[in-house]
Amino acid sequence: MASFPAVLAGGQTDQAEFTLAPSELDTIAGIVKREAGISLTQAKANLVYARLARRIRALGLTGFSEYCALVSAPEGEAERWEMVAALTTNVTRFFREPHHFEHMRAKLLPDLILHARAGGRVRLWSAACSSGPEPYSMALTILRDMSDAPRHDVKILATDIDPNVLAAAAAGIYDEAALAPVPAALRQAWFEKLPNGAGWRAGKELRRLVSFRQLNLIGAWPMKGTFQAIFCRNVVIYFDASTQERVWSRFMPLLAPGGALYIGHSERVTGDAARFVETDGVTIYRRFNQVRTQ
Ligand SMILES: C[S@@+](CC[C@H](N)C(=O)[O-])C[C@H]1O[C@@H](n2cnc3c(N)ncnc32)[C@H](O)[C@@H]1O
Repeated sequence: MASFPAVLAGGQTDQAEFTLAPSELDTIAGIVKREAGISLTQAKANLVYARLARRIRALGLTGFSEYCALVSAPEGEAERWEMVAALTTNVTRFFREPHHFEHMRAKLLPDLILHARAGGRVRLWSAACSSGPEPYSMALTILRDMSDAPRHDVKILATDIDPNVLAAAAAGIYDEAALAPVPAALRQAWFEKLPNGAGWRAGKELRRLVSFRQLNLIGAWPMKGTFQAIFCRNVVIYFDASTQERVWSRFMPLLAPGGALYIGHSERVTGDAARFVETDGVTIYRRFNQVRTQ
């Protein structure tokens, strides 16, 4: 099979600085699958080349052969994680798929607010939170109807595999363009404008509702309690079918009866997990109080 020639933006073929052989792409894909569950096909060669050529340059290596040797070696662990982070897609935005937030507001929040104000525990999970707009949108949806939420036992767990996006999420700084989908009143109430046009920072109260942690969806999950809502959107799409089914199944014991699972627009709950939930709108699933036996 021919080696992959780098294609530059605009479709121009480069006199490739490096050569990415199919066997090297296989090595990289094997590691990313094993570590993060992400399936990379030969069709992703362009993306792999572009993102990892930067790493090769930064490390002063001669090319993909040396890079593959590094990430395959036990001592290459740190770079393996840099590689996984470089190859994940972090695209996200505030109030993405707004119907999920409307559903949460209309169908879940009235009960959850009563529950929290009566001293109950409310836990939501953003299971691939990227740089933060998703969990902050969940928090804003709560704050819109429950401005006293930070004084009750209401918490959003926000996790991702990539420590770089988690650091950005915890800092909570966004520019005007990123905040465009956030209604002006919510922005005024829960963000602080930074000086010198440096954007906006999620305010203390907003940040208090969200805890950011690193978590690999195909690794160990330390949490024990259940969640009244789980958002797992636009991540399992990068996994193969059996990995997706495993993730759905692992959510089921963590989803409170009546709790909602929100997934990405092109994703569907399949496999054994489907016995535990009913659909409540496109890409919204509610956990049954009792599991169906057939
Ligand atoms: C496209 S973003 C989706 C962000 C957000 N859920 C949304 O829909 O806007 C996908 C995120 O999944 C994360 N990710 C990829 N593989 C993961 C894994 N195995 N475990 C946890 N997060 C993962 C990536 O780091 C990235 O931040």
